[in-house]
Amino acid sequence: MAASPKVVGVRLATSEYGDTYYDGKAETSWYDVTTGDVRDVADLFVPDVAGTLMPRIVEAAEQDPRVVKEELFAQLDGDLEAFDSVAFTTDGRLWVEFDRQQISDNPEPIGVAIDPSGLLSAFGQAAQAAAMTPSDPQIAPAQTETATEEPPATQTDEPQSSPSRTPRATSRPLPSGSVDCRTAKCVALTFDDGPVQQTADLLDVFAAKGVRATFFVVGKNVKAHPELIKRMVAEGHVVGNHTYDHPQLTRLSEAAIRKELQTTNALVADASGVTPDLLRPPYGATNSGVASVAAGLGMSQIVWSVDPLDWKDRNSATVTSRVLAAAKPGAIILSHDIHATTRAAYAGIVDALQAKGYVLVTVPELLGGRYEPGKKYSQRSSS
Ligand code: NI
Repeated sequence: MAASPKVVGVRLATSEYGDTYYDGKAETSWYDVTTGDVRDVADLFVPDVAGTLMPRIVEAAEQDPRVVKEELFAQLDGDLEAFDSVAFTTDGRLWVEFDRQQISDNPEPIGVAIDPSGLLSAFGQAAQAAAMTPSDPQIAPAQTETATEEPPATQTDEPQSSPSRTPRATSRPLPSGSVDCRTAKCVALTFDDGPVQQTADLLDVFAAKGVRATFFVVGKNVKAHPELIKRMVAEGHVVGNHTYDHPQLTRLSEAAIRKELQTTNALVADASGVTPDLLRPPYGATNSGVASVAAGLGMSQIVWSVDPLDWKDRNSATVTSRVLAAAKPGAIILSHDIHATTRAAYAGIVDALQAKGYVLVTVPELLGGRYEPGKKYSQRSSS
C-alpha cells in the first residue's frame, strides 16, 4: 500500500477496504528494500515506545463508541504484537487497526488514526513518508480505489423523484469569476458541524479578505440558523451536507442514511435556494452503502487531506501552525467553525496562506467542477 526506494508496506487483507473501515481481517507487513528484510511492526517505532503509544491509541479509541473499553485494555497489554495491522494514512497519521470483534461487538473491524510524532524509528519515518507521497501512483490505493469505485448501477429503492440516477457530465459549471486551479495555487478551507451564531464572525473575516470557503453543515444547526446559510450562499461560499444530527453513517441502513441527507438538503435549499451536492460523512466514515445513497442523491463525498485536529487541541496557535505546515496546492483543509479557538485562528491563517501565494477557493472550484456522484475526494488530483 506504500512504496518508496527504502520501504514497502504491504497490506494483506481478505477483501477490499476503504480508508477508514476495512472489511475483513487485515495484516500489514513492512519490507525494507535496502536490506531485503521483512520487518515487523515493532521496527516502525523507537525503542520502548509502548508507554507513549498506548495512551494515544486508548485516547483515540475511546472516541469511538463502538469500542468496549475492557477489551481494549486487555488487548493493549503493552505488547506491540497485538497490532497485526498498522499503516499510515496519506496525511501521515499512524493507523492502527483491530480485527473484527477484537475490541468491540461491532461486526466491522475498527481502526484509529493517531499522531505518531516522536514515536517512529528511522524505518518508521521512511514508511510514513512513503504513505504521504501523492505523486507515486502506487501509493495509497485506499484513496484511489475508493475514489474510482463505481456506485451500483441500479438502485431499486431510490425514490422516483431522485434528481440524479446517472452520473452527470464530468464537469459542472462553476460561478463566473472562479479561479482556475490548474494554474493557481489553490487550497480549499472547509468547516464542519456548524453553523453556530458565531460562524458569522468567520464570514466577516472571509468577506473582508476575499475568501470563499465550504461549510459542511449539520441539519439541526441549519434549522436553528437558516439566515447564516442564506448569507453563506449570498457571499459565494458553498454549503455542503454533514447529515442532520451527525451519526456515523456506516452504522445506519441505507434508508436512514438517505433520510439524514435528504432532510439536511431540504433545509439548506429552503434557507438558500441551493441544494447541496457535496456530502462530508461524519468522522470521514464511509462505505459502499454511503456511496450508493450519495450517488442516488447526486452527491459526491468530500473528505480532506489536511486535519489540524482543531477539535482536540483547542489552541489557535497549534491549529494555525498545523494548517500552515501541511497546506499544499490542491489540499482540502478540515476545521470546525463551532470552536472559538478555530474561528480565532483563521484571520491569521488566511493572511499567512495568501502571503505564500495561495488562493482560497471552494471545493467545487478546487476540483474544477469535476466531481461525480458517489465518488470520494480528499484533495485535487495532481493530473
Ligand atoms: Ni463533524
